[in-house]
Amino acid sequence: MVDIIIVGCGTQGQAHIRCYAKLKDMLNINIAGAVDPDEKQLNAFQHLHSKLGFDTRRALFKNNLSELSKELDISNSIVDVITPNNCHYSCAKEAIDMGTKRIIIEKPLAHDLSDAKNIEKLGGVIGVIENYLFSSITQHIQKFIEEQKLKTIFVKTEFSKNRRIESLEGRGIFEDYIPHVFTIEIPHQIAVVSYLLEFPKNVCDAWCHDMILPDGRISSHGEGAITLAHKDGATSYNFSCLQGYQHLSIKYRTIRIYCEDAIKIFGYYPTTIDLEGSILVYRDQDLIEKHRFIDDSMTETLKYLIKCFMENKKPLNDANFGRKIMEIINTGTVLAKKFC
Ligand SMILES: NC(=O)c1ccc[n+]([C@@H]2O[C@H](COP(=O)([O-])OP(=O)(O)OC[C@H]3O[C@@H](n4cnc5c(N)ncnc54)[C@H](O)[C@@H]3O)[C@@H](O)[C@H]2O)c1
Repeated sequence: MVDIIIVGCGTQGQAHIRCYAKLKDMLNINIAGAVDPDEKQLNAFQHLHSKLGFDTRRALFKNNLSELSKELDISNSIVDVITPNNCHYSCAKEAIDMGTKRIIIEKPLAHDLSDAKNIEKLGGVIGVIENYLFSSITQHIQKFIEEQKLKTIFVKTEFSKNRRIESLEGRGIFEDYIPHVFTIEIPHQIAVVSYLLEFPKNVCDAWCHDMILPDGRISSHGEGAITLAHKDGATSYNFSCLQGYQHLSIKYRTIRIYCEDAIKIFGYYPTTIDLEGSILVYRDQDLIEKHRFIDDSMTETLKYLIKCFMENKKPLNDANFGRKIMEIINTGTVLAKKFC
């Protein structure tokens, strides 16, 4: 049996347990416990745990890891950290200090580069949730580029949504910590372009704006972009808006890849609960290929990480991968501060 302990039972913690429910029989998953200082979130999570058919008799629900560890030896469990970004390091360290050897951490690896480097230095095997790497869309694009021997010139990623209400209600915000726009959707975008084009040689440009609300603003939380120079002259422009880009309130997550020989590959990641995504390929403006996918990238990521842990394999999306993304975000944040 694979025992999982969830640390952070908010929006994304509840998304993770739904994925674990899909993997329960295949990987023999047991949610051994969950912790959250917020009683309301903890209760909602406990209710979901029971509704999804997990064994409720032995599971523990506590306000913090040390309370949980008084009743449960967590050293053989996988600890899944899904807290606000500024708690990733302290929670991972606490779990390691309690004897855990395998940790999953939600993206971004940490809220800043210093914490990301500290996480990289922790013992044990760490996997960071870079779910868009495990998306059928990314995988298909990567294979297509490789098989067709395409040379990429330019990539544009746009991940946008309207999270004004959620941000106002405190999503991802803890005490005085507010996530920068570069740490919400952009880590996914940097992960994908770095996977397809290798990690960039240079951060060319970055900008960001505040989130504008009816009665105020949230600093550096509205929209922004990071431009990267990759190898062989390829460039990527990675834009994210969290306040309803072009008045679209629905989520919008795309990758557009422009290659030599007038080939364009457009990938549309799922944004609805049916998890439907697609890819369109054009040559000389003519549509030459069209694919539809059911793309459950979060479940695929958790499955991959658990298998790596079980087979003692180093994951592709390890702490080193997550730290490199934080290096880019750190440089981008400095540039945006300087030039905006
Ligand atoms: N991979 C993805 O697609 C994706 C999507 C959304 C969020 N995320 C990431 O998930 C993480 C959580 O985001 P969210 O949207 O669920 O935020 P949230 O605010 O909805 O939930 C965070 C929860 O963590 C709890 N918490 C705070 N400190 C804690 C601690 N020390 N120990 C245990 N619990 C603690 C809070 O009480 C809250 O319930 C963030 O790192 C975010 O970047 C990833």
